[in-house]
Amino acid sequence: MNIIVMGGRGLVGRNIVERLRSQGHEVSIGSRSSGVDLITGRGLAESLVGIDVVVDVSNSPTFDDIASFEFFKTAGFNLLAAEKRAGVKHHVSLSVVGTGRLEASPYLRGKALQERLIRSSGVPFTIVHATQFFEFLLDIVNYAVRGQVIHLSPAFIEPVASDDVAATVARVAVGAPINGSIEISGPERGRMSELIQRFVIDIEAPYEVQTDVGATYFGAALDEFVLLPREDAERGALRFEVWWKLSEYARADW
Ligand SMILES: NC(=O)c1ccc[n+]([C@@H]2O[C@H](COP(=O)([O-])OP(=O)(O)OC[C@H]3O[C@@H](n4cnc5c(N)ncnc54)[C@H](OP(=O)(O)O)[C@@H]3O)[C@@H](O)[C@H]2O)c1
Repeated sequence: MNIIVMGGRGLVGRNIVERLRSQGHEVSIGSRSSGVDLITGRGLAESLVGIDVVVDVSNSPTFDDIASFEFFKTAGFNLLAAEKRAGVKHHVSLSVVGTGRLEASPYLRGKALQERLIRSSGVPFTIVHATQFFEFLLDIVNYAVRGQVIHLSPAFIEPVASDDVAATVARVAVGAPINGSIEISGPERGRMSELIQRFVIDIEAPYEVQTDVGATYFGAALDEFVLLPREDAERGALRFEVWWKLSEYARADW
């Protein structure tokens, strides 16, 4: 199959590219560093010539401001219009569990709009919703830290290894479009504040975690269950403790 991975140089994208190439597929990468810009449209039409499947794992450079909403709006519009013109047979998009339920977050409002653009595009599609990557826990810390204190919601989360998500997206990319969504989460459930507390201890960061039911998550207030996946979600196999021991974070000198 001829596949292009938009965002194929990112965390989950490069893993997907490697998996698909090792299965013998012809895989190209769409990202600004490879000459494709989803915002300006530079190189986009050319990149889709002869492509059967587009995997979109591009990402906004920011998480907590209106620019993230604008990124998904513009990139989604440009990409799907170009795919329609090129006759792409399957659009696969990686989105976030909770999208559509957290409109106060500009980032997740952007992901919700991206999903609506996909559903109305006329291009056959599959949307994969994933929970927070283990790697993303550090971004949550950076978002929530004020001085030495991290204010976090006690909402439940089921974080997942990006490697497990990449495996699911790569499998979906070579399957038939379902014109709907599937979900993947991690093997364990915990409260965000408690899981981050463990993470902060693991990385030996000098922060105090405070549980705060009013703490926002990238702009959105959370109820306890809003970040949990559907009953029929796939479960990633890698447990946090195992991922942690294998990760670069465990070896880093914090
Ligand atoms: N992190 C999580 O916990 C999580 C959970 C669920 C779902 N997701 C979703 O997973 C996706 C991938 O996340 P990630 O963390 O792997 O992303 P990432 O590491 O930030 O990578 C982003 C990719 O997007 C490309 N990109 C950025 N701006 C672009 C533009 N204007 N045109 C073309 N390419 C552009 C970047 O390459 P260049 O800089 O070279 O352009 C890079 O390859 C996102 O859609 C995110 O919503 C993430």
